[in-house]
Amino acid sequence: MKKCAVIGSINMDMVLSVPRFPAAGETLTGGNFQTVPGGKGANQAVALGRLGAPVRMAGRVGDDAFGRRYLDHFRQNGVDVRAVDAVAGTATGVADILVNAAGENCIVIAPGANGLCDLEWLDRALEATADCEIFLLQLEIPLDTVAEAVRRLRKMGKTILLDPAPAVPLPEDVLAAVDFLTPNETELKAVTAGLSEDAGIEERVRHLVGGSGRVVVHKRGADGAYIGTRDGIEHVPGFSVRAVDTTAAGDTFNAGLAAGLAMGWPLRDAVRLANAAGALAVTAYGAQEGMPSLEQAQALMARG
Ligand code: RIB
Repeated sequence: MKKCAVIGSINMDMVLSVPRFPAAGETLTGGNFQTVPGGKGANQAVALGRLGAPVRMAGRVGDDAFGRRYLDHFRQNGVDVRAVDAVAGTATGVADILVNAAGENCIVIAPGANGLCDLEWLDRALEATADCEIFLLQLEIPLDTVAEAVRRLRKMGKTILLDPAPAVPLPEDVLAAVDFLTPNETELKAVTAGLSEDAGIEERVRHLVGGSGRVVVHKRGADGAYIGTRDGIEHVPGFSVRAVDTTAAGDTFNAGLAAGLAMGWPLRDAVRLANAAGALAVTAYGAQEGMPSLEQAQALMARG
């Protein structure tokens, strides 16, 4: 099985359930509050670990209690932490998350040590992950670092999965260097911002694929995913589950896709695994609680 590396953010999530999102200036009484591990990069690494894929995290935490707790948590979930360092005098990234009764969320992030993943750090991170073959990146560490990482990984001949989340427009040469791009609806619009407002999903996916060998896997939540390749666009249906908290559904989807590719599965099967893993992730409260093992994801796939 191919070794995976995740280059990205590590956050401690402060999750508060609310009946609905408050309006500006309003004070609302919520319910359950928890401090749980999160961060788009770390979520992908932990989800890969749960799925049984060999995975190494490259990121930064603060030299604080959250950072120490996170390092233990990575180890307990099978994530290799040799490329994670603790930055002296800096706080671990945190995310304040409100989850409403429909399981939807609102997130505000204080990047902390994630914001210090600079180009000098990237040199060390790439060196410490040089033996990995599949790389997962997102956009929660500085964009310059992600862009440079993608360019250098391309030159190194690595397989690159970029989850363009949170949504921002990306440099054309970075898009061109990616093997798998996995936007949700908002992110799809952001990375095809040059197209007209009225452009539909298919037009946007086709535009991203262009004449390249790039694969676009457009995540659609409960509706599954659309795979865009040079050969056309194919819908892979999702799985129906009761959503409790949709936080990290996209992160878990990416991990499922990468795990499938790491095991050498055909693309459609890897996307089915991604759909199943993402679906199971939303059935529990918190970013990582519902992330499945490979057996649990396969059981859902077998039910159809
Ligand atoms: O994708 C979900 C993640 O986004 C949360 O865990 C939170 O930390 C934010 O980074």
